[in-house]
Amino acid sequence: MSSGTGLKGVVLDESRICLIDGDAGKLVYRGYNIHDLAQHASFEEVAYLLLYGKLPKRDELRAFEGALKSARHIPESVIEIMERVKAAHPMDILRTAVSAAVALDENSHEATVEVGLPAGIKLISQVATIVATMHRQRLGLDPVAPRDDLSHAANFLYMMFGKEPSREDAKIIDLDLVLHAEHSSNASTFAARVAAGTAADLGSAIVAAIATLKGPLHGGAAEAVQKTVEEIGDPDKAVEYIREKIEAGEKVMGFGHRVYKTDDPRALELRGVARDLGHKMGNDRWFQVLQQIEKAMEPYRAKGIYPNVDFYAGAVYSLLGIPDEQFIPMFAVGRMPGWIANVLEQYEDNVLIRPLLEYTGPRHLKYVPIDDR
Ligand code: ACO
Repeated sequence: MSSGTGLKGVVLDESRICLIDGDAGKLVYRGYNIHDLAQHASFEEVAYLLLYGKLPKRDELRAFEGALKSARHIPESVIEIMERVKAAHPMDILRTAVSAAVALDENSHEATVEVGLPAGIKLISQVATIVATMHRQRLGLDPVAPRDDLSHAANFLYMMFGKEPSREDAKIIDLDLVLHAEHSSNASTFAARVAAGTAADLGSAIVAAIATLKGPLHGGAAEAVQKTVEEIGDPDKAVEYIREKIEAGEKVMGFGHRVYKTDDPRALELRGVARDLGHKMGNDRWFQVLQQIEKAMEPYRAKGIYPNVDFYAGAVYSLLGIPDEQFIPMFAVGRMPGWIANVLEQYEDNVLIRPLLEYTGPRHLKYVPIDDR
């Protein structure tokens, strides 16, 4: 059977949300270059930009931040459901919790921009609370109630660890969320748009996106990279390790991208963060291992294989004390505005997304009674 094309290069529709130029290594949200946003904008500003199509004025940002803050609590019944499934894969817990939260939210079930936008804003906050709650439940700790005097990133770290983070740590997570906020028709966003295209409600579309993000070829790479880094341990062993992996025909996690055939601009942003944070924490080794892996992968640049966003993200999360298993949920926390913006854009001018499969199986078989097979 053919391995298929994975819809490579197929243009699905028009969009005004995100531009990726894979040959130039350029990422643009609503007209603004990612490097510009990474340097200047908060996650809240970027979320507003993605949802409303323009940067907020001061009072608009204040109102938006207020709406996010007031939606940070999750219902007790969702916390109870999460407690029951806390031993499952974190993405299964996240998917289950979001599904429960939207099922309980009677005002969110209509597939329109008017209903989807406020429901989406609420979910941006709730997903952060769900991820932090899950982390604590898995450690046997009580969830930490959200605070409404902290930014999205700072409150997230506060709910994870039960203490107010330093400004520097909150800034790093804020940047990480900005870098993950949107990425055009990647697999999870495509799944969300397919669900929205059936006129399913926003919550259902987000659940589809979360389910799709779970896979190691999409959201799971950062976790795999960090495992690799810890397994290699010694920077001097990295080149040999990678050579063996490639010779065994395995893919090196954190490398390659369907669209970028040069440096992923998000990886460029995180590289310096991983280096500086490692240095500050007295752990230069992980960054050195990552550098050696990059060096070992240099020959494959000619094939367009460069580090992607997940390559440095794992080291950054680990240095901040976020365990491997929470890396994919972290990705979801960041991607929420992008998923929601895409669902809302789909609603604006909806058409059912329904491609064809070329049938290559047998035809004209005759039914055989069970005892004669
Ligand atoms: N390591 C080694 N070789 C690679 C890698 C890699 N990470 N990625 C691609 N290649 C090779 C392929 O083997 C293929 O070689 P061939 O032409 O000799 O057969 C060639 O590069 C083209 O690769 P494809 O698999 O066709 O690229 P595709 O666009 O289908 O895949 C993908 C992209 C899935 C991301 C792939 O690069 C991969 O599996 N990477 C590792 C997982 C990963 O890091 N995922 C995160 C992606 S970013 C994100 O979702 C946030």
